[in-house]
Amino acid sequence: MTAVYTHGHHESVLRSHRWRTAENSAAHLLPHLKSGDTLLDIGCGPGTITGDLAALVTPGRVTALEVTEPALDLARAEIARRGVESVDFTVGDVHALDFADGTFDVVHAHQVLQHVGDPVAALCEMRRVTRPGGIVAVRDSDYAAFTWFPEVPGLAEWLDLYERVARGNGGEPDAGRRLLAWAHAAGFTDVTATSSTWCFADPQDRAWWGGMWADRVLTSDMARTALATGAATEADLHRIAEAWKSWAADPDGWISVLHGELICRV
Ligand SMILES: C[S@@+](CC[C@H](N)C(=O)[O-])C[C@H]1O[C@@H](n2cnc3c(N)ncnc32)[C@H](O)[C@@H]1O
Repeated sequence: MTAVYTHGHHESVLRSHRWRTAENSAAHLLPHLKSGDTLLDIGCGPGTITGDLAALVTPGRVTALEVTEPALDLARAEIARRGVESVDFTVGDVHALDFADGTFDVVHAHQVLQHVGDPVAALCEMRRVTRPGGIVAVRDSDYAAFTWFPEVPGLAEWLDLYERVARGNGGEPDAGRRLLAWAHAAGFTDVTATSSTWCFADPQDRAWWGGMWADRVLTSDMARTALATGAATEADLHRIAEAWKSWAADPDGWISVLHGELICRV
């Protein structure tokens, strides 16, 4: 059941995760939230989505969960910066949650199931800690479904490398398309499955997304793993980084990032 988290928490990764809001990353969940709900945010990362969700369910309490104290400290800092006092913090693993059955109204995980060793077991645990009538909400990207233009050769190389490294770590990078199947395997019978995208196509967005990936392929845990396992050489990584920069600099550059998402009624 163990998997290694492919991205790690390098600044180049956090730059991407800190851009996320409840609106751009959890829109499928928002119509279901109400004031007073208790919510568990699993794999909360740097906590920007967590903070937004806390504001939406206040005075309901939110529990932010991460796998290590250093990772959880990132969310602590963001929540403190916002002056939000309704968030509790806990270290844990989605495969074995330390909560009684039926503890939460809503259990949420954004971009987490693609990184875990057993997503079906994870969904079973998420359901267990949700009260009857409550909601399990998940959203994951689907790397093979990312679509971009122009077809810079190094970007196909990037996708191939990312998929090999993520699978080598025990994850499933094409998780979006599999979420519904995983939920059915976990025993959910009342599931609404949708998809949504991020699109980066103006000069500022392209510079941010392309620059972020150019840095990530050189400096994040993905780069370290690629080098350590022989999946790529330093020269390969530099070529891929240059491909992201040239895509970002192209006035025709466009990318759409597909996500699968579920609302599972318990
Ligand atoms: C891609 S990040 C997403 C962070 C945040 N949800 C967001 O979207 O900004 C995935 C997070 O899941 C956490 N994670 C990985 N494996 C986990 C596990 N088994 N249980 C709980 N969290 C896990 C990682 O530490 C990481 O911070």
